[in-house]
Amino acid sequence: MTSWSDRLRREGHLISFVPTMGFLHEGHLSLMKEGKRLGDKLVISIFVNPTQFGPGEDFDTYPSDLEKDFKLARDIGVDVIFTPNKADFYPQGFDTFINQEKLPNHLCGLARAGHFQGVMTIVTKLFNVVNPDIAVFGEKDFQQLAIIRRMVKDLNFNIRIIGHPTVRESDGLAMSSRNSKLTPDQRITALSLISSLKKAQNSLKNKENSATALIGNAVEFICSHPDTEIDYIKICDPDTLDDVAEIDRPVVMAMAVKVGTTRLIDNVILNPDQS
Ligand code: PAF
Repeated sequence: MTSWSDRLRREGHLISFVPTMGFLHEGHLSLMKEGKRLGDKLVISIFVNPTQFGPGEDFDTYPSDLEKDFKLARDIGVDVIFTPNKADFYPQGFDTFINQEKLPNHLCGLARAGHFQGVMTIVTKLFNVVNPDIAVFGEKDFQQLAIIRRMVKDLNFNIRIIGHPTVRESDGLAMSSRNSKLTPDQRITALSLISSLKKAQNSLKNKENSATALIGNAVEFICSHPDTEIDYIKICDPDTLDDVAEIDRPVVMAMAVKVGTTRLIDNVILNPDQS
């Protein structure tokens, strides 16, 4: 992988990279299209990274369909599909991890101890091996994107990080590989995430700018749906992820909700200037 990148870079190509855990959907494909638009060679990786899953999480049941992934990636025009194997990437005795002090102590990081350490470690390893000029990440994983931007800055990676807007199903559900685990009833319930976020945007338009009020409404709305368990609903600063009390500038409203046993996340920007 690395010698391919080195050769292509010497030849003057600009290499884009989209890391994934596979089971590709339209969301991934739109990251890839953005990668192709920005660079002239596109690498994707498919690797279900064990170090970002905690005990009791869905590592063993994470959906996978490599044959379909390969076809979708080829149809988009991906130049390299990099599929490291676990034993190569985490050999016996592996003992080095990347950490960050502040951003992981918010949102998903609170319920998923060690998750972002695993993400930063694998992304660093992938960056080192793939050696891209540009890497594209989805804004659906808002905290992940903020953490990777910080890491790239702090560790002097010479890689341009691009955030790409969340791709949604026609009814608004944010695309996720985990959506495939929802039963038809849960799939309907899952719409309560984006509906509650849109309600918050509408309330802001009607001059409700108290975070407590907007979060309270969202909690009430989501809990009125069966089979839901809220992990968090937060309104926070997009850079520091610290909670904000009053929406007087663009902020992010982010949530994680379990629908049945499937944990879903979503977020939108709340911008008082657009209301
Ligand atoms: O967003 C994901 O799919 C994963 O967290 C990533 C970035 C591929 C690292 O395993």
